Amino acid sequence: MTEQASVADPETPDIPGKPTSASRTTLSHIMTHNDTNLLGTVHGGVIMKLVDDAAGAVAGRHSGGPAVTASMDEMAFLEPVRVGDLVHVKAQVNWTGRTSMEVGVRVLAERWNESAPATQVGSAYLVFAAVDADGKPRRVPPVLPETERDKRRCQEAQIRRTHRLARRRAIMELRERRAAEGFED
Ligand SMILES: CC(C)(COP(=O)(O)OP(=O)(O)OC[C@H]1O[C@@H](n2cnc3c(N)ncnc32)[C@H](O)[C@@H]1OP(=O)(O)O)[C@@H](O)C(=O)NCCC(=O)NCCS
Repeated sequence: MTEQASVADPETPDIPGKPTSASRTTLSHIMTHNDTNLLGTVHGGVIMKLVDDAAGAVAGRHSGGPAVTASMDEMAFLEPVRVGDLVHVKAQVNWTGRTSMEVGVRVLAERWNESAPATQVGSAYLVFAAVDADGKPRRVPPVLPETERDKRRCQEAQIRRTHRLARRRAIMELRERRAAEGFED
């Protein structure tokens, strides 16, 4: 049984699932001189903002309302991005929990001075929590993976989820142990 299947809430009726393709989004942006770092290539923070924007749009679409970034992990920068490059940020829901969703993002760059196909320059995984008007987490529709690739991404997202929870638990236990032993930070 998957974790998703085990978190049914008896107090609220089941929410119908939504296919991955219903919320998949691409955000495209041309890089300018305003986006550069001291080396003249595009600042990583500019890419991270685009990643968060695209993932947020997907999370909002999938959950049918506001969703906030809970965490961002495994942001990888694979190749430099340059001024003039047309950057495409492709995002989709990989996995859903009770109130949270993992969104996977791939960043591609079309080089302004090359006719080659777009190069993958980055990737990231973000967790969004759907929230109500008071900022409290609300339930999300289960994502329905459609292709074998969607299914693989969903399985990999569950592995990341397990690791995130285990890491958080281990750190909390360490802190409690140190506090109990009288260590002060
Ligand atoms: C994210 C937030 C809504 C979680 O609220 P909370 O009271 O801790 O609620 P919960 O513990 O029930 O967590 C809600 C869901 O988010 C997930 N979650 C919370 N913190 C998380 C984290 N750091 N990483 C991954 N998932 C997380 C929980 O696992 C849970 O998922 P599930 O329901 O699918 O099992 C709250 O911490 C928040 O509002 N944070 C600020 C968000 C924000 O402002 N983002 C913009 C960046 S500045």
